[in-house]
Amino acid sequence: MSSELAIRIEGLSKSFPIYDQPMHRLYQMLSPRKHKQRWYRQFQALNGIDLSVRKGETLGVVGRNGSGKSTLLQVICGTLTPSAGEVQVNGRIAALLELGAGFNPEFTGRENVFLYGTVLGLTRQQVQERFDEIAAFADIGEFIEQPVKNYSSGMYVRLAFAVAINVTPDILVVDEALSVGDEAFQRKCFARINRIRDDGATVLFVSHSAGIVTQLCDRAVLLERGELLSNGSPKFVVSRYHKMLYAPLDRLEAIREAIRMEKEGSDRPVSATLPSLSATDREDAKLVSDAGRTSTASSGSASRGWYDDGLVPKSTVRYDTRGARIAAPHIETPDGRKVNVLHAGDEYVYVFQVHFQESVGGVRFGMLIKTLTGLELGGAASSLPQDSLALVEAGRTVEARFRFRCLLDGGTYFCNAGVLARIAEEETYIDRLIDAAMFRVMPQPERLATGYVDFCVSPDIAVVDAGKVSA
Ligand SMILES: Nc1ncnc2c1ncn2[C@@H]1O[C@H](COP(=O)(O)OP(=O)(O)OP(=O)(O)O)[C@@H](O)[C@H]1O
Ligand SMILES: [Mg+2]
Repeated sequence: MSSELAIRIEGLSKSFPIYDQPMHRLYQMLSPRKHKQRWYRQFQALNGIDLSVRKGETLGVVGRNGSGKSTLLQVICGTLTPSAGEVQVNGRIAALLELGAGFNPEFTGRENVFLYGTVLGLTRQQVQERFDEIAAFADIGEFIEQPVKNYSSGMYVRLAFAVAINVTPDILVVDEALSVGDEAFQRKCFARINRIRDDGATVLFVSHSAGIVTQLCDRAVLLERGELLSNGSPKFVVSRYHKMLYAPLDRLEAIREAIRMEKEGSDRPVSATLPSLSATDREDAKLVSDAGRTSTASSGSASRGWYDDGLVPKSTVRYDTRGARIAAPHIETPDGRKVNVLHAGDEYVYVFQVHFQESVGGVRFGMLIKTLTGLELGGAASSLPQDSLALVEAGRTVEARFRFRCLLDGGTYFCNAGVLARIAEEETYIDRLIDAAMFRVMPQPERLATGYVDFCVSPDIAVVDAGKVSA
């Protein structure tokens, strides 16, 4: 196979024997070999799949329940053998499959880390060297010494993910597993997946979330009844997936046929280079009219919300410290109450302090709000470069306050914090915290705006011909 490709699949089919009654399985085993009667039907879970995945590509796999996604990933990972066709994989593959990583339930977490790590191709010595990092990432405390059978499903996935991403795989395969963890853990995983992508690994990702697929993937494929029905850009494929998902039963066949015919591209990978994850590249948020009902709070009324101890980011990373340190990043109401559960429409202040250990000039501050998957929604600098603080002396502490109105949909969000200064005539970060704070926005049952950001759209609907209109 070409050295450009991480995975090459040709004519792949997979069928499973289906026994109508449990006894039939036994009859089948006992029936004499010579004139063997068939006690089963063949169920075709995958049917003639052709697919190539280029090295460094992130591929999303979507499809309705039972369409064959997990079966496809299992064949790629080698846990299922194909009934027909060919699958070639180029590189070390680490998988997080639906049914877990194949941990031995009787072994402790620690023992399973070694077991799974060696299955994934590391020596015991290499697992030993990475053990502390794996345990820290899983963050399951004392449970690491407990048998895995005592774990909750969340703990299980944490440990499996921690191992899978710390073996530095060439190909990472993730089957819906992330939906099990809490949001802080999910954010940490997405941050790590982005890093693995940036390092040039290939990622295969099964998800039912259109948002995650469009943000994370370079390309997507749609499986339907074991067939690869659509293959193209994530937006194109996800829209076809939604057509299938919401199709009335009597139209399903016609829609399926229409999608089959219209294929956006051939099987060729769409992009060779990875696009950045910046918001400008991803026009995912589609807004429709909000019939004038937008912000729920008017300025002047007290901002609502409360503080939830459990909402603490676990993915915080510090970059670029050069004589300054960001401290105590948090969100508060305009009257100074610390909160991290926010109400859409209300005003809040994102606050952090910066301790300056060295005297610097040209000082500015910055903030950025991102989604769980790392999509950059928006932020601000504290001033233009020409209006920066001319000099901050060593030993001083400066507080940066960014007041904003929360115009976001219900969900969990993360904030970055940064400090810039002029060093040797160049403006540069002197401290930067990624995922410095996190907050949740309460869902709004009456919301008409769609997408992450409420643009306070006020539509004006008028009948412009003389006909009759009824509701
Ligand atoms: N071991 C098996 N024996 C018999 N049938 C199987 C087996 N594994 C999967 N199937 C069948 O193959 C089809 C595809 O299953 P698969 O788990 O790949 O679907 P999926 O797309 O991952 O679905 P979901 O979205 O629910 O996870 C289903 O109809 C399933 O019942
Ligand atoms: Mg599945």
